[in-house]
Amino acid sequence: MSPQHFIHKATDDAAALALAGFSAAEVAAMDAAMAAALQGPRGANPLVGAVVITADGTPLVTGYHRGAGTAHAEADAIQQASDAGHELSGTTMVVTLEPCNHCGRTGPCAQAIIEAGISDVVYAIDDPHDPAAGGAATLRAAGVRVRSGLGAQAALELNRRWFDAVAAKRPFVTLHIAQTLDSRIAASDGTSQWISSPESLADNHALRGRIDAILVGTQTVLVDNPRLTARGADGEPVGRQPLRVVMGYRGIPEGAAINGDDGKVLHVPTRDPREALDRLFTAGVRHLMVEGGSRILSAFLAAGLVDELIVYLAPTLLGSGTPALEDLGITTLAAAQHWEWDPASGGAVQPLGRDLRLHLSPARAADPLAPVAAAISNSSDSTPFRIGADTAAGGN
Ligand SMILES: NC(=O)c1ccc[n+]([C@@H]2O[C@H](COP(=O)([O-])OP(=O)(O)OC[C@H]3O[C@@H](n4cnc5c(N)ncnc54)[C@H](OP(=O)(O)O)[C@@H]3O)[C@@H](O)[C@H]2O)c1
Repeated sequence: MSPQHFIHKATDDAAALALAGFSAAEVAAMDAAMAAALQGPRGANPLVGAVVITADGTPLVTGYHRGAGTAHAEADAIQQASDAGHELSGTTMVVTLEPCNHCGRTGPCAQAIIEAGISDVVYAIDDPHDPAAGGAATLRAAGVRVRSGLGAQAALELNRRWFDAVAAKRPFVTLHIAQTLDSRIAASDGTSQWISSPESLADNHALRGRIDAILVGTQTVLVDNPRLTARGADGEPVGRQPLRVVMGYRGIPEGAAINGDDGKVLHVPTRDPREALDRLFTAGVRHLMVEGGSRILSAFLAAGLVDELIVYLAPTLLGSGTPALEDLGITTLAAAQHWEWDPASGGAVQPLGRDLRLHLSPARAADPLAPVAAAISNSSDSTPFRIGADTAAGGN
């Protein structure tokens, strides 16, 4: 699936852009930056892409952000230019988000741009994140020409759930489901290890290694006794471990494996997902993965608090056992939750061993198929209506 199925392009309104003073090369560079951004993973940080073009509009380098703790898109592009021996003075950087102004785990991008001698910056939208905002002012103060607004709508859509999470002061939430073809996450005797292929398990452990916290319900702790650590191919814990969170009224048994010996475990005695998120946000969690079981998965979905869905689909049938989801409070098709394929974070559909890994985001429209239904009922000819890729993906 091309990124254009997911986001609007910066070129959507060429006439308005020309009036706003953006060159064709800058518009093309913004589209390329959006596509590059989608190569990154969703999570604590927004997806960001950056393209540097020469004074005559030739693209030099393309950078993107590979997730929390790694170089920002601007720094990635500057590093690539340096590695290739490109001189950056007099060039223009086109970037999907305002360059940051703060020293987090990586240095401030505004400063790196100034030091690289880049003379022009075009960015899509302001950074809403308090500690990072203010990069444009820093750049202007240093004499860099700064313009914004190119591709603003596309940039908002690119990270819309991340913006929602930041505004709501809650972690970005990834929901993980490892299920059979008939949507079971455990057999009727309670066994669930392992429904997924070794490749899916490895992918899940890589994700565990970059999130801030992983959450399960008390029942999963009692039934499965999981460790919930991030482990490498050798089965040993990797360097960065998520906080292990158990949600529910019952306490964690003393000998439970989840307790580990590093103190990175937290019991959240609530059944309210929003309250759990508030607790975790206060504890510094910015990216949470909810792993199950079905009552916990359903509670987060019913509350509309899931920002991305990762489903490991095994070609296995059980016919009975624990369903992936419980009642979401939906009684009619018109009230169904709709999701759309998300090309970020490794792609919308990825084969992993014998499994498929599906990656989705909440649909932008309440019912993405509503325009299709309207077209069918309004259609005067009798030609069967074919749902094309654009329409099925939300119709950009
Ligand atoms: N395939 C997979 O990826 C996967 C992953 C995880 C689990 N599992 C399987 O899932 C099964 C467990 O699923 P489950 O649904 O029985 O248990 P669960 O979702 O793990 O935990 C349910 C418990 O969580 C507490 N809770 C917290 N918030 C809640 C809410 N909003 N609504 C309801 N309960 C809430 C309740 O316990 P309190 O009384 O303590 O409040 C409830 O009994 C196990 O068989 C496990 O193997 C599979």
